[in-house]
Amino acid sequence: MTFSLQRRRLLLAAPAIAATPYISACGSGDELPLPAGVPISPFDSASTAEQVTAGIDLTGRTALVTGCNSGIGYETMRVLALRGAHVFGSGRTLSKATDACNSVNGHTTPVVIELTDLNSVVAAASFIRAQTSSLDMLICNAGIMELQTLEQVNGIEKQFFVNHLGHFVLINHLLTHISNAPQGRIINVSSGSAIRQAPEQGIEFDNLSGERDYEPGKAYGQSKLANVLCTLELARRLRTTNTTANALRPGVIPTNLGRHMPTWKVWVLENLGKPFTKTIPQGAATTCYVATHPSLVKTSGYFFNHCNPHRPGGHTEDMQMAAKLWKISAQLTAGHRVSTIKI
Ligand SMILES: NC(=O)c1ccc[n+]([C@@H]2O[C@H](COP(=O)([O-])OP(=O)(O)OC[C@H]3O[C@@H](n4cnc5c(N)ncnc54)[C@H](OP(=O)(O)O)[C@@H]3O)[C@@H](O)[C@H]2O)c1
Repeated sequence: MTFSLQRRRLLLAAPAIAATPYISACGSGDELPLPAGVPISPFDSASTAEQVTAGIDLTGRTALVTGCNSGIGYETMRVLALRGAHVFGSGRTLSKATDACNSVNGHTTPVVIELTDLNSVVAAASFIRAQTSSLDMLICNAGIMELQTLEQVNGIEKQFFVNHLGHFVLINHLLTHISNAPQGRIINVSSGSAIRQAPEQGIEFDNLSGERDYEPGKAYGQSKLANVLCTLELARRLRTTNTTANALRPGVIPTNLGRHMPTWKVWVLENLGKPFTKTIPQGAATTCYVATHPSLVKTSGYFFNHCNPHRPGGHTEDMQMAAKLWKISAQLTAGHRVSTIKI
C-alpha cells in the first residue's frame, strides 16, 4: 500500500475513530444481571422528561438542580417545576440563574453556585437550608467536559474538581436537609464516559492534579467515574435511612457541553453521531425519572441508563475504590466540609 493511500484511509477513518468513545457510550455493552426486584420502567431512550413524570404531582416537594441555565439542567428544572415542585436552580452567576428561573413556569428560586469556589457552594447550601425545612431532590447536574489543556483548581484537575469535588461538598452540606425529607433523593448526573473514557485502572489517586499524561477525554471520564463511585459510597452510608442516591448517564445530547472540544469533533458528533443522539427533553428523562418516580422509593446505589438500572461492570461497582474516593475527597475539601449527618 502506498503512503498516500494509507494516509487517505486514515483520514477517512478519523471522524469515526473520533466519535467512537461517545457513540459507543450510547450502547449498553455487556450488562451484568440485575438483582431480582429492581424496578424496571416502561420508559426507554426515546422517552422525554415530561413523559416519565406524567401524572406525578410534586406539589410541596423541593429540588435543587445545579447548572439550571443550560441543556439537561434547564429541562430538568422546567419539568420538575411544571409538576409542581419548588425548584432551586443554580447558575454560576445570579443573572444566569435568575434568567433561567424566570423563563420557566412554576415555583423556582435562583441560587449562585460556582463549583470551582467551595465558599460559593457552602453559601448556596446555607441559603437553601434557610429557605426550606427539607430538600426532596438534590440533582448534581452541572458539569464541564474535555478541557483541551490542563487547568487546575486548588492544584486539582479542573474537571474532577467541578464535576465531582464541588458536588461532593454540596451533598455533604445538604445531607441533613435531604434526610429531613420523607424520602430524599440524591441524583448524580454521570456519563457513559465513566466506562469508556476513564483511566484503565479507575481513579488515578496519585495523579489528581492531572499533571501526568493529561488527556481531555480521560480526565472527563475519570470525573464521571467519580460521580458513580461517590453515589455508591453515599448509598452504602445511607443504607439504613430513607434517603437514596443514584447515578445516571443521560445519553449523548447536543448541548453546550461540547464548548471546550475542537469544533471538528463537535461537528463529527453532531453529524456522524446523529442516529445515536437524544434531544434535550429525552436527555433529561432519566434524571427526572430517577428523581421523581414512586417505584424508586427504595432503589439506591444504581447507575441508570435510558430510565432503567444499568450494570456495565468495570469500576462502576468497585466499593473499595468508592470508599477510597470518599476518604480522599473529604481530605481534599476538609476546610469546606461539614459532617452534618452521621453516616
Ligand atoms: N450532553 C451530553 O451529551 C451529556 C452526556 C453525558 C453526560 N452529560 C452530563 O450532563 C450534565 C449536564 O450537561 P449538559 O449537556 O446539559 O451541558 P451544558 O449545557 O454545558 O450545561 C452545563 C451546566 O453546568 C454549568 N457549569 C459549568 N461549569 C460550572 C462551574 N464551574 N460551576 C457551576 N456550574 C457550572 C454550566 O454553567 P454555564 O452555562 O454558566 O457554563 C451549565 O449550566 C453534565 O454533568 C454532563 O457531564 C451530558
